[in-house]
Amino acid sequence: MPEKQQPLAIFQSLRKDAFDALEEAPDFASICRVEADYLGKNGRLTHILKSLKEMPEQERKIMGSAANVLKKELEEKIKLKKAEMRKQPFVQHANNFVDITIPGKKISRGHLHPITRVLREVAEIFESMGFEIVEGPEVETEYYNFDALNIPKNHPARDMWDTLWLKPLENRMLLRAHTSPMEIRYMEKNNPPLRIIAPGRCFRYEATDATHEFQFYQVEGLMVGEKINFSHLKGVLEVFLKRLFKNQEIEIRFIPAYYPFVEPGIQVDFRMNKKGKWLEIAGAGMTHPQVFKNVKLNPKSWQGFAFGIGLDRIAMLKYKIDDIRLFHSGDLRFIKQF
Ligand code: PHE
Repeated sequence: MPEKQQPLAIFQSLRKDAFDALEEAPDFASICRVEADYLGKNGRLTHILKSLKEMPEQERKIMGSAANVLKKELEEKIKLKKAEMRKQPFVQHANNFVDITIPGKKISRGHLHPITRVLREVAEIFESMGFEIVEGPEVETEYYNFDALNIPKNHPARDMWDTLWLKPLENRMLLRAHTSPMEIRYMEKNNPPLRIIAPGRCFRYEATDATHEFQFYQVEGLMVGEKINFSHLKGVLEVFLKRLFKNQEIEIRFIPAYYPFVEPGIQVDFRMNKKGKWLEIAGAGMTHPQVFKNVKLNPKSWQGFAFGIGLDRIAMLKYKIDDIRLFHSGDLRFIKQF
């Protein structure tokens, strides 16, 4: 009969709507919304259930049982859907939901590279002794790296620095092989008396191993005055090492060595105490008269000392690192220890 079939058709379309909505529900909140839409206080099915009591008895029986069947069916389906949703990864049903109980993401802070730390300490110690800190270019000319330092072309001493030349070769540009060019650059522009250190990166065409890198750091030192002599050099280096290693027992010794820009030239060794092993730490010497002439200073009026300290070596000793290559490896397991 049309009157009876028509009300029952309502349940069919209601059922279809509800099931479709549940099927499409993308998250937990959407399922709850479907639940409210059909079974909530003002839900579509609830509405029908409430209106039953106004219906004639026969109709009420038919409508009532159909409504209750659908209600049960829907409740079960919703329960099932919710359980399914709970099993899914959190994000998929959390669109409208912020979980304030999740621990925050930790932001890991960076820190200074061990070489930078040592460099800053070294600079601080020399600063306290009145030295000015200056810096210069890593790409140098042949003149500053060699000629002005009394190392002429074709002089065998050039072999001491395995140089990385830049193309085109006719330009005679290179990656500085030491920080000594800064002695020239500074004295060209400043008159003595002077006290400077010039820290920086140097480069040499060398095979790498545990103690050699093609890039490394030096700290150049230069002190010029009317009566600066060898004992000043010894005093400055001794104070420097004692402060850096916080060790008053440190001793240093000078061994003759050849560098064309100093005369006499020496190698500086030091040891932690009387029983310690001698370790090479710097090249040094008294500034060569020709170097003064090259910067238009009168060698009869001025005397000075210069040194070049290997900074990587110092960092290795200070932090007990046995392989220089670790400094530039970018290996976080190494770098995070400092
Ligand atoms: N520049 C020299 C080197 O790299 C070291 C040095 C510096 C020697 C200053 C004497 C004086 O080997």
